[in-house]
Amino acid sequence: MSSKIQPANGKLGVMVVGMGAVATTLIAGVEAVRKGLAKPIGSLSQMGSIRLGKRTDGKSPLIKDFAPLASLDDVVFTGWDIFPENMYEAAKHAQVLDNDQLRTIQPYLESIEPMPAVFDQHYVKRLNGTHVKKGKSKCDLAQQVRSDIQAFKEKCERVVMIWTGSTEIFLEPTPIHDNIEAFEKALVNDDPAIAPSQIYAYAALKEGIPFANGAPNLTVDLPCMIELSKQTGAPICGKDFKTGQTFMKTVLAPAFKARMLGLSGWYSTNILGNRDGEVLDDPESFKTKEESKLGVLEYILQPSLHPDLYKDIFHKVRINYYPPRGDNKEGWDNIDIFGWLGYPMQIKVDFLCRDSILAAPLALDLVLFLDLAKRSPELSHLGIQEWLSFYFKSPQTAPGLYPEHDLFIQLMKLKNTLRHIMGEDLITHLGLEYYD
Ligand SMILES: NC(=O)c1ccc[n+]([C@@H]2O[C@H](COP(=O)([O-])OP(=O)(O)OC[C@H]3O[C@@H](n4cnc5c(N)ncnc54)[C@H](O)[C@@H]3O)[C@@H](O)[C@H]2O)c1
Repeated sequence: MSSKIQPANGKLGVMVVGMGAVATTLIAGVEAVRKGLAKPIGSLSQMGSIRLGKRTDGKSPLIKDFAPLASLDDVVFTGWDIFPENMYEAAKHAQVLDNDQLRTIQPYLESIEPMPAVFDQHYVKRLNGTHVKKGKSKCDLAQQVRSDIQAFKEKCERVVMIWTGSTEIFLEPTPIHDNIEAFEKALVNDDPAIAPSQIYAYAALKEGIPFANGAPNLTVDLPCMIELSKQTGAPICGKDFKTGQTFMKTVLAPAFKARMLGLSGWYSTNILGNRDGEVLDDPESFKTKEESKLGVLEYILQPSLHPDLYKDIFHKVRINYYPPRGDNKEGWDNIDIFGWLGYPMQIKVDFLCRDSILAAPLALDLVLFLDLAKRSPELSHLGIQEWLSFYFKSPQTAPGLYPEHDLFIQLMKLKNTLRHIMGEDLITHLGLEYYD
């Protein structure tokens, strides 16, 4: 093990903002795995392996045995929600996991109750919370969240925060986001450009703890937050878990481009019936999601480099709230491609997925990898952790740098970062040495 990375001793506290479908599926899942009742399927950190050295060396340890990640046995959860239900009630409400399965870990789930949240209905129109903090100003609310973090720090060795709360209305950066000083002034002045997610993120970064964003909200992709993240050595990464349709898109689009097949249109539509679907039924929240989903094709296909293939793509994304399906989303894609001499072809994808089953392992990996980044001297003061792009619809990159959306480039980047911080040779796939 690289001697520079601090070991993962003691408890890792995970503070979850928004304890709904994804959060309860994460928390219940971690407990079920700890008790030997289920496997952490879908989690790269728990099930993935990493090749070290040459293909002929036969060395491919599990990632969790290679990098000094926190053990699941050391993970402790707390969090905030605008509803006071404990994790057992919230998981039943979310209807993702079977009641029989939930009953096997009922006392544990009942022991976790959300703290009152920072919430303002202006930013999530379809929700009306009762379990909310009261404060004189946004600055006061940020102080209250910092107090919650400080109290949790007393019980744990290290802490990370992850947003699995609802999608907020579409916001764009304003001058108050230009630097920390301007942002802090705006907190005092209750500036409407500061959404609740920014208040949590600010509190986390101020306390020096990493922050991950599972939703597409404008939260840490702001100059003031990048500055704060670097200043306090609290890593940040991208936004909006890459789970269903966008996951598929970032697998298929690189394949078309690899073969130099053209694309004329990509129509994506979904039906979704959980609370997330209800929130996204509001046009202002949907716009935030839409922006996050639309970006990927442009970056992967690079129409400016390949105008004959990708100049005029018609790309559309719809999400329809349809209660009967609950968390079991169905996503359809109609893809119009063209090949040799311009002859058209079509591909249809019908993904009958389970939203939170796909998202929970990503949330787990993110908290474990962010904790590792915090303990790694090479990563902790970089601010943005581009190597975690793998998990996001909207990866975060240094200003001016275009993001990598191709899932397999993202995976290579993630694994090479682990090799790098652990002092192992990077794998380039050149492979000439086998033929010397
Ligand atoms: N499941 C997926 O595949 C997936 C993929 C990408 C992104 N996401 C995003 O993850 C988020 C969570 O999804 P979900 O299915 O768990 O939704 P959910 O509605 O079940 O849970 C969100 C929870 O956040 C709470 N909340 C809202 N605002 C809050 C605030 N200010 N403070 C504290 N709590 C707050 C809500 O009360 C709710 O319990 C959504 O933004 C969703 O768009 C989910």
